[in-house]
Amino acid sequence: MSRVLSGIQPTGDLHLGNLLGAVRNWVEDQHTDDSFYCVVDLHALTVPKGPGELAAASLELAQCLIASGLDPEVCTLFVQSHVPQHAELGWIMQCVCGFGQLERMTQFKDKSERRDFVSAALFTYPALQAADILLYDADRVPVGEDQRQHIELTRDLAERFNHRYGDTFTVPEASIPRAGARVMDLQNPTDKMSKSADSPAGTVLLTDPPDAVIKKFKRAVTDSDGVVAFDVANKPGVTNLLSILGAATGRDPEALAGEYTQYGPLKADTGEAVVALLEPLQMRLAELRQDPAETSRLLRVGADKAGAVAESTMERVRAAVGFLPR
Ligand code: TRP
Repeated sequence: MSRVLSGIQPTGDLHLGNLLGAVRNWVEDQHTDDSFYCVVDLHALTVPKGPGELAAASLELAQCLIASGLDPEVCTLFVQSHVPQHAELGWIMQCVCGFGQLERMTQFKDKSERRDFVSAALFTYPALQAADILLYDADRVPVGEDQRQHIELTRDLAERFNHRYGDTFTVPEASIPRAGARVMDLQNPTDKMSKSADSPAGTVLLTDPPDAVIKKFKRAVTDSDGVVAFDVANKPGVTNLLSILGAATGRDPEALAGEYTQYGPLKADTGEAVVALLEPLQMRLAELRQDPAETSRLLRVGADKAGAVAESTMERVRAAVGFLPR
């Protein structure tokens, strides 16, 4: 069985792009791979938060992930700060990583530009991400295209460490879904759907009530030529609707294009399909919210499983780098 690890930051509500682009694949992988999914609260801390905000966001994200189908009895779902080996290996990875390598990270450039306070940890963030992955000897890391550079860095650090200190880490592969699986912003269909979009009307949250979902699809930006066709380059809005409808119903988006001659019915059907997709998820989420102690219990089970693997890796790492046994 191959080992899979991925991480997601607790920085706000999950949206349809997270669900269809990432979380749905995780839900599938949990049945075929030995999978670890981590709520990366240490990473979220790289950007300042108000008191209480981080804990609430971590709990909410864990509940959304479980409601989306991650089964803590099947996969290992845990919170990063519950396994202190992440911070420990993160430090060691900072020592293996070149300053110049971090300077080349495009996500740092993007994230630091728009802020007046840039933490040192925002800069070293990719070294901690490498630690997340290498602690579990992950073979495969399912992520979006935007994380490709971080996974390349992780591979590089694993190889450098193995070369310097002897074979210690598995060198992981990125596993990136094909472009068509990307969900785009409904108002701005050439941009990825994102929680930080200019207009909330372009982003469908997993917690949006049915009428809000229907309205967002009804108002989705298309184009003015009135032809329903699957064509990413020339018809990004219509293509996005077809992709979402296809993903929500398990049908081929190009075949769906042939069934519509007008935008109105396509928007209405896509809205309905997404409402149907979200309905069971929202019911499960409401149950979980009633009983936060149960979520805490599930996360403790995950932390115990993850912690055992992480500690056995750290025993190898500490010996390899030459920490004096206590
Ligand atoms: N940096 C990732 C993101 O912004 C989140 C992340 C942290 C991650 N650690 C990880 C993803 C380990 C995959 C594996 O989406």
